[in-house]
Amino acid sequence: KFEGLADTPPMGWNTWNTFACDINEDLIKETADAIVSSGMKEAGYEYVIIDDCWHGERDEKGFIQVDPERFPSGMKALADYVHSKGLKIGIYSDAGTQTCAGEPGSRGYEYQDAIRYAEWGIDYLKYDWCNTENINPIGAYSTMRDALYSAGRPVLFAMCEWGDNQPWEWAKDVAHMWRTTGDIYNCWNCEEDHGSWSSWGVLRILDMQDGLREYAGPGHWNDPDMMEVGNGMSQSEDRAHFTMWSMLAAPLIAGNDVRNMTPETVEILTNEKMIAINQDSLGVQAFKYNSEDGLETWFKPLSNGEWAVTFLNRSDEPGKVNFDWESKKIEDPHFDYAVDFSEVTYSIEDIWNEKELKNTKKTLKATVAPHDVLTLRLKKS
Ligand code: DGJ
Repeated sequence: KFEGLADTPPMGWNTWNTFACDINEDLIKETADAIVSSGMKEAGYEYVIIDDCWHGERDEKGFIQVDPERFPSGMKALADYVHSKGLKIGIYSDAGTQTCAGEPGSRGYEYQDAIRYAEWGIDYLKYDWCNTENINPIGAYSTMRDALYSAGRPVLFAMCEWGDNQPWEWAKDVAHMWRTTGDIYNCWNCEEDHGSWSSWGVLRILDMQDGLREYAGPGHWNDPDMMEVGNGMSQSEDRAHFTMWSMLAAPLIAGNDVRNMTPETVEILTNEKMIAINQDSLGVQAFKYNSEDGLETWFKPLSNGEWAVTFLNRSDEPGKVNFDWESKKIEDPHFDYAVDFSEVTYSIEDIWNEKELKNTKKTLKATVAPHDVLTLRLKKS
């Protein structure tokens, strides 16, 4: 695969969560414009990703074409537009015979598709797993990786087989990120039954990340799916969702209509301090340190010996934090990071509130609202 494309978790926007198949070139252009004007680009969002349903038919030689009604100017012109805004463009295909929406899949056409994507100027490929009966996942994803590589244009390769084949165990050298679960849904803690499959609320997806952190790192990330910030949850739920994805060093792929955002949504999606925690160069996911009455404490090791700490209140009642730093020694269960607060004092930066919290000498007492977070960055003082 192409090295150096995902040293920190990829950031961008994707059509699927809000628009599904209701997409066209104007939407993509307006979105690129809005990513710039809203400050998202400045905050680090880079990839504008077109999910399922952009496809037309294959031509007589087998090359894929765009849907001429949705994308009358063609994909090359659209890529040029997105690039002219200083952004990158992503596209979607599927390892099987057809995509999940029934469009032509890449099976048997991998090298031809990769050549076409390179001609169009594509920078990112999300590669899905519908209609793949009797296909070997390692073979299928490695074939597309090799095809992209041989086409020569650097492409960030995002696997989407929903964690069905434990990609964390084998995909490090195949892709830059891999989905770990089925689809996310814009609710806090629910399961949405679609018959043969389910989609999942934020807490359900979060819990499914258990046991995966040791497999991720710079260049190869666990992907708990695209974000639902701005898609209907409460402001505190959106904030908690964004915070936990940042703590998990997850790809931050927005899934809302960025042309029409409330100031609150913009504030969450572009919080510089939270994004810095997500994008920290160490690339280590947070671990859960403690859980009591629905109040969880998560620690994320950062570069330069700093830490991010989040108190996540999952419950419907206010959560009381009473954290006596000096009596605690924190040890990363998988990597070689530890801190003994009786020996080191950190100053505390509150990520979401402009509160003075001084340092880790004093016991932290706070109340976290239901479905909300308190996130701190511990800085070497
Ligand atoms: C299933 C994936 O998990 C979704 O993110 C989306 O890409 C759809 N397929 C598109 O059909």
